[in-house]
Amino acid sequence: MSIRVSPSAEATPAEAREKRVFVKSFGCQMNVYDSQRMTDIALKEGYRETADIADADLVVFNTCHIRERASEKLYSELGKAREIKQDRAALGRSTQLVVAGCVAQAEGNEILRRQNAVDVVVGPQNYHRLPDLLRAGRAVVDTDFGLDDKFDALPAPSRQAVRARGVSAFVTVQEGCDKFCAFCVVPYTRGAEASRPAGKILAEIARLAEAGAREFTLIGQNVNAYRDGEGEVLAGLLAAAARLPGVVRLRYSTSHPNDMDEALIEAHVDNPKLAPYLHLPVQSGSDRILKAMNRRHDAAAYLDIVARARRARPDIALSSDFIVGFPGETEVDFEATLSLVRQVGFASAFAFKYSSRPGTPAAEAGDQVPAHVKEERLKRLQELLEGQRQAFNRATIGARFGVIFDKTGRHPGQLIGRSPYMQAVFADAPPDAIGRMSQVEVIDVRPNSLKGRLVEAQQSEET
Ligand code: SAH
Ligand code: SF4
Ligand code: F3S
Repeated sequence: MSIRVSPSAEATPAEAREKRVFVKSFGCQMNVYDSQRMTDIALKEGYRETADIADADLVVFNTCHIRERASEKLYSELGKAREIKQDRAALGRSTQLVVAGCVAQAEGNEILRRQNAVDVVVGPQNYHRLPDLLRAGRAVVDTDFGLDDKFDALPAPSRQAVRARGVSAFVTVQEGCDKFCAFCVVPYTRGAEASRPAGKILAEIARLAEAGAREFTLIGQNVNAYRDGEGEVLAGLLAAAARLPGVVRLRYSTSHPNDMDEALIEAHVDNPKLAPYLHLPVQSGSDRILKAMNRRHDAAAYLDIVARARRARPDIALSSDFIVGFPGETEVDFEATLSLVRQVGFASAFAFKYSSRPGTPAAEAGDQVPAHVKEERLKRLQELLEGQRQAFNRATIGARFGVIFDKTGRHPGQLIGRSPYMQAVFADAPPDAIGRMSQVEVIDVRPNSLKGRLVEAQQSEET
């Protein structure tokens, strides 16, 4: 007897097919870390990762609320995801759509109201509950700041997942912010400052190192405010991390000027694995604006930290964040920012136009700066910063330093990694140099990278 198979029956039935997860991360490094953790949850639940959203049974957008443009991006992504969900439904495939991260925290139910294709809205402190939320069988919002430690509830990443993510790993050590800068949503979306216990962080780093990670960036919204229940501070945590087998290079981000203690500056001298790089946002060079921003430091205090850091570690590369066009900013205030930039000389920096965020004090200010003025100031600041970046890059020609290559380059035989100063470096190197510290001499600069020559591949664990 012959059996006729209809074309649709030939396809794997939806139930039997291994489920796929697609995670897209917006915003900061903290979101990258959280996105990896959500992927780990899904993998543990039996999903496989896909880079094709149309192939995904579970779609997670891990969102950022920091500037207006960042949050608006979500709704255009959700519009597209809704269409994909409908197309899949027509083929008999269900799709669960999750909005996580800072827009989820800030807007909660509003997201369901604006886009009813969404199944789950989950805040940054609640995503460990994702499996239960996905099983709820109806649209759910979970944005309470609970008391349970999400980190304890998260599954450890598999060795395979760690390998796939490369030799460079982020580890969240501190979360939240109590500083309430007048322009910023983070204290509302991430909650109060909280530090994880050092022992748990070190165990996580040890596990990642054991699975092949080599470069670790300890991250937090105010990472240098790190202080755990036992009184351990960031410098001590970095020293302990440096002693773990497999840890080759350490970084930390983002620091606040008011939490920059002497121990952390000294760590740049005493801790040979700590990269000579300091991302220290200042936002403005005008004391009047810094006060209006509720930054609680002035330009002189910032310059003093820079001077101390450079005395301790003369080659330290400095980076910062700037906001132009904060309410009330005059041309004189803006020139004070340019002047601070000239005094410091940054290796790299981010400059943003002030973006009014609902619920923050600055959004209520009457003296908003017109868009064209913000635009013009941003351009001037970016030009100055870009000139400094290029000068910093040019100054590294002839320098020798350690690079941990982490991937293959554009041309055959080439590998790419980062300098201690966070510059992208490419050089001809054997494939087995990936994941090891190689000594490289800089022989040329490109607009966004350095060209290096391998001096020797070595096991050295120094920066
Ligand atoms: N915790 C860090 C950074 C937080 S957000 C700090 O204290 O500096 C990253 C950067 O986004 C900030 O440094 C700031 O420059 C920028 N930013 C935050 N809110 C903004 C807003 N409303 N408009 C424009 N830029 C903003
Ligand atoms: Fe935002 Fe200020 Fe906190 Fe940084 S320190 S996260 S800019 S409130
Ligand atoms: Fe954005 Fe939230 Fe990070 S607002 S910058 S994703 S802490």
